[in-house]
Amino acid sequence: MSDFLKIVAGNWKMHKSRKEVESFFSELSSASNTQSVRKIVAASPTLLESALKFSANKNVEIFAQNCHGETQGAFTGETSPAQLKDLGIKGSLVGHSERRQYFGETDESCNKRTLGLWNNELEVIYCIGEKLSERESHKTSQVLKSQLKELIQNYKQRLSENKYCQLIVAYEPVWAIGTGLTAESAQIVDAHKLIKEEFKAAGIAPNRIPPVLYGGSVKTNNFNEISSLSNVDGGLIGGASLKASDYNLLCQAAAK
Ligand code: PGA
Repeated sequence: MSDFLKIVAGNWKMHKSRKEVESFFSELSSASNTQSVRKIVAASPTLLESALKFSANKNVEIFAQNCHGETQGAFTGETSPAQLKDLGIKGSLVGHSERRQYFGETDESCNKRTLGLWNNELEVIYCIGEKLSERESHKTSQVLKSQLKELIQNYKQRLSENKYCQLIVAYEPVWAIGTGLTAESAQIVDAHKLIKEEFKAAGIAPNRIPPVLYGGSVKTNNFNEISSLSNVDGGLIGGASLKASDYNLLCQAAAK
């Protein structure tokens, strides 16, 4: 489905000024040995235009971090997929755990946003992951399956209708995000396997099973190992994606 071996997706969250975006891209290497890595950065709305401008020769795709499901309307404070498309944005994160935790996003609202993005031919990085209490009470599989249910139904439906539905799934255990606690290799392998098996069990053809990224305290010193784990197609990286020197190292690690 993709010519890229691995994906490095930076999530800048609510960080950076336009000036800092310019410095980031000027320091970003265009090393030829990372050509096989698909590079993405998800930035705040006010930075999208400068990110597009300064990333022009750097082979980095610019994504939004959130997007409404409707094309336009009375939704104060939201950004529509058509507005992102108009700017030249390639896609958006959907359902990041911080959106679910602080802004009341649910599987239902995340699926509406996903459909809105797809209707405008924008790619979706759909985030799922269990909370610590859910892991501790052995509910990880159940939680991941339920977070995937409607997404897989929609994906399958659109595939059958030959409609646009580019998708990446990001597995981000909530307890590992921004905490310095990375999931253990076995936990990552199990979760990624389960995610891909859910798509398979729904009858999705092997070449349309989406790439699955790991996220949660990925650092320059652990990404080499994480990105080489089975069924790990790359990373969704917060803190360690903010500095160009670190982003370069993450791409190097992914290219190995
Ligand atoms: P982190 O964030 O790498 O800083 O843990 C990951 C994310 O929130 O996507």
